[in-house]
Amino acid sequence: MHQVPFFTLLGQPLIIQWLVKSTAFNRLRVFVVLIQKMPKLSVRNLSKSYPNGNSEEVEVLDNISFDVHEGELLGIVGPSGCGKTTLLKIIAGLLEADEGQVFIDDEEVHPGHNRVGYIFQQESLFPWRTVRKNIQFGLEITSVDSSRMNERVNEIIEIVGMDGLEDNYPHEISGGQARKTEMARSLVVSPDILVADEALSNLDAQTRNYLQEEFLRIQKRTGSTIVFVSHNVDEAVFMSDRILVLSNIPSRIISEYEIDVPKPRIRTSQECLAYRSKILDVLKVEQEKAMSRSRQKQSVAT
Ligand SMILES: Nc1ncnc2c1ncn2[C@@H]1O[C@H](COP(=O)(O)OP(=O)(O)OP(=O)(O)O)[C@@H](O)[C@H]1O
Ligand SMILES: [Mg+2]
Repeated sequence: MHQVPFFTLLGQPLIIQWLVKSTAFNRLRVFVVLIQKMPKLSVRNLSKSYPNGNSEEVEVLDNISFDVHEGELLGIVGPSGCGKTTLLKIIAGLLEADEGQVFIDDEEVHPGHNRVGYIFQQESLFPWRTVRKNIQFGLEITSVDSSRMNERVNEIIEIVGMDGLEDNYPHEISGGQARKTEMARSLVVSPDILVADEALSNLDAQTRNYLQEEFLRIQKRTGSTIVFVSHNVDEAVFMSDRILVLSNIPSRIISEYEIDVPKPRIRTSQECLAYRSKILDVLKVEQEKAMSRSRQKQSVAT
C-alpha cells in the first residue's frame, strides 16, 4: 500500500484549516501520532536491471515497494539470485536503482548516503585490525573526539558481548564472534537502519541458533530498525516481526506475513511451524516455476 509522505499530508487545505483552529495540545497529540505512524524506511517502486554480457539487460527487481516501522525487524526471503542483495545495496545507498525511491524518516535518500549500517553476506573484517579497531573503523571518519570514540566503542563491545576479546585479531576469534564484531561495527555509528545480508550463514546450527537469540537481544537493547535477509525460513520466522517473500527474477513481493507470535519464540511451537510451512509452500511454487522455465529454455536450445 502506498503511504502518503508526511509533509504532503500537512499541505492539504483541510488539515491546514484544522491546524489553525485546534488547540496547541491537540496539535501536539496529532503530531506525535503521525510521527509514530510514519515509516522509518519507505521503499517505493524500485526496479533494477543488470547487463548480462550479451548486450542485453536482465530485470532483477520489478517495482518493489514496502515500509518498515521504527524498531521493526523485517525479514526478506526469496529464491537464490532473486535480487535480495541488490535490494539491500540500493537501500544502503551502495547501488543506484533504475527507477523508484528510498525514504528514511520521510526524507528521500540518494546513493552515497550513510544512514544505513550494513552487515555483508561475506565476512568483511579487516584481518590486520583487532576486534576493537575493526569496531572503531566507522567512527574514525566522523568528527567524534578520541575519548568519546573510546567510550562508544566500549559501550558497543559490552552490548554485543565481545568484552575480553577486544584485543584479538579476526583469526583469533570464532565465526560467530566475527559476526558479532561485524554487527558491532555497523551499530557503533548508531545508524538509522541496519540491513543484514545472510548475517548468520556459514555457521554451525548451534552457533546460528545462539546468534539469532543474541541478535534479538541486541536489537531489543538498541531499538534498531532492521531489514534482515535470510535463506533460512526457520530463522526468518524465529526472528522477524514481518516477512516478505520475493519471487524469482524479475523479483516482486509475492507474499507478506505478519508473524503474530510473541517473542521470545519457541522454534518448534505450532504457530512458528505453521508460518514456516506456509512460506516454504510459496517458495516451492517459485522453485518449480524456475525449474520449468529452465527446462523450456533447454528444449528451445536443443
Ligand atoms: N554487478 C552485477 N552485474 C550483473 N549482474 C549482477 C550483478 N550483481 C548481481 N547480478 C545478478 O543479479 C541477480 C540478483 O543478484 P543478487 O546478488 O542481488 O541476488 P541474491 O538474491 O542476493 O542471491 P543469493 O540468494 O544467492 O545471495 C543474479 O542473477 C546476479 O547474477
Ligand atoms: Mg545475496
